[in-house]
Amino acid sequence: MRKVITYGTYDLLHYGHIRLLQRAKALGDYLIVGVTADSFDQARGKLNVEQSLMERIEGVRATGIADEIIVEEYEGQKIDDIRRLGVDVFTVGSDWRGKFDYLKEYCEVVYLDRTKGVSSTELRSESHSLRLGLVGESSILNKVERESHFVNGMQISGVCAANSTRLTKSLKQMAMPMERLDELAEGSDALYIISKPRFHYQHVRLALSKGCHVMCESPIAIRPAELQELRALAQQKGCLLVDGLKTAFSMAYFRLVLLAKSGIIGQIVSVDSTCTSMADFETMDDGDVKSLWNSINAWGPTGLLPIFQLLGTDYSRKLIATRLLDGVPDFDTFTKISFFYPHAVASMKVGQGVKSEGELIVSGTKGYIYVPAPWWKTDYFEIRYENPADNRRYFYQLDGEGIRFELVSFMKAIQTGQPMNYVDEAMSAAIVSVISDFYERKDTILL
Ligand code: CTP
Repeated sequence: MRKVITYGTYDLLHYGHIRLLQRAKALGDYLIVGVTADSFDQARGKLNVEQSLMERIEGVRATGIADEIIVEEYEGQKIDDIRRLGVDVFTVGSDWRGKFDYLKEYCEVVYLDRTKGVSSTELRSESHSLRLGLVGESSILNKVERESHFVNGMQISGVCAANSTRLTKSLKQMAMPMERLDELAEGSDALYIISKPRFHYQHVRLALSKGCHVMCESPIAIRPAELQELRALAQQKGCLLVDGLKTAFSMAYFRLVLLAKSGIIGQIVSVDSTCTSMADFETMDDGDVKSLWNSINAWGPTGLLPIFQLLGTDYSRKLIATRLLDGVPDFDTFTKISFFYPHAVASMKVGQGVKSEGELIVSGTKGYIYVPAPWWKTDYFEIRYENPADNRRYFYQLDGEGIRFELVSFMKAIQTGQPMNYVDEAMSAAIVSVISDFYERKDTILL
């Protein structure tokens, strides 16, 4: 019996897949189809597969062409499958020509012509599209634009910026002045807002009033009352309003939170996060440090993320210690906030122009979690115990610094109408409340 094997994602099964399977089967007597596991697709950067593994397997099974279906879970598995299952022929479509020649050592390798004019990518783009407008001056918008190309159906509809010097050439060409924000909102389904935090409220309100969904770089506002008003408006308009906080979407960080909550280090006693960067304060415009956010806005939401996710937002007390830039009243170059909970403590250190080790440490009664600098864009962390032999290391591929997955999740949430639970509303409000207290100098000591 001649055994043939082929692999694929088989998302939204289409005619091209069926033709491939038929021709693969015709190469022998018995066809094994390897369907990619969700985690395998994620690890290779294919984040927007629409159907679950079970649905995709069911799709392949329903064709009646496969004699056996297996799951492809890791890189390098093909060699093992071929040897273990006694495969004679490996085949895939011609889009992979040459890529699997290394398998010739183990079996015959056949590339079949790909069927023209159909692909899962196109089907996903056709079934839904999203016009995303960009708002702000930050160079992060360049990354958002780059990552949007990986999200099927997402198109950048334009950019509004008060100043476009930090944007790439292609974004500069689209850039419109901020006065035309209503025009951008009218031509968009959603806006990604990363203007200066003191303008967030105004920009988000305009976007929502035009019926746009909004992802706004955290903090969404700098006053709790403003946030409440925006949430009410979002609800009234049936729009999503979510925090842009890319660390929350990094797979390693997300898994770390789940592991910590499941008790892997015992009870959590302390969370300590540090985020700093160096800064150039030379030029000023209208009382602001040019192009720079102060520490509490630039880093605060990221630093607060693990504290509020692991210990909750219901702290009993906090103390803010802050160092301001000479002559610029609200520009903190460094802020440390200590939080006190009934059974735990936490500290957050953020700096723009003050440097420290950007690590995250979560201390527990059985062990601790250590995330090396820069923890906010990590693909790696360790769980450490008294006995180093028990230590465990975790690695998860991070694509596009978390922005890719952030955009995919935003688009999915818009399509399904399901809220995203990466940064929930209680956390979003707690972030705004801490930042507001900083401006009000509540619980604050000036250094
Ligand atoms: N295939 C094909 N003809 C097409 C599409 C896919 O022959 N028009 C083949 C691929 O070459 C592969 C198998 O079908 O051998 C499974 O492909 P998969 O990657 O799941 O499908 P695509 O439509 O290419 O998916 P995507 O657009 O997400 O890359």
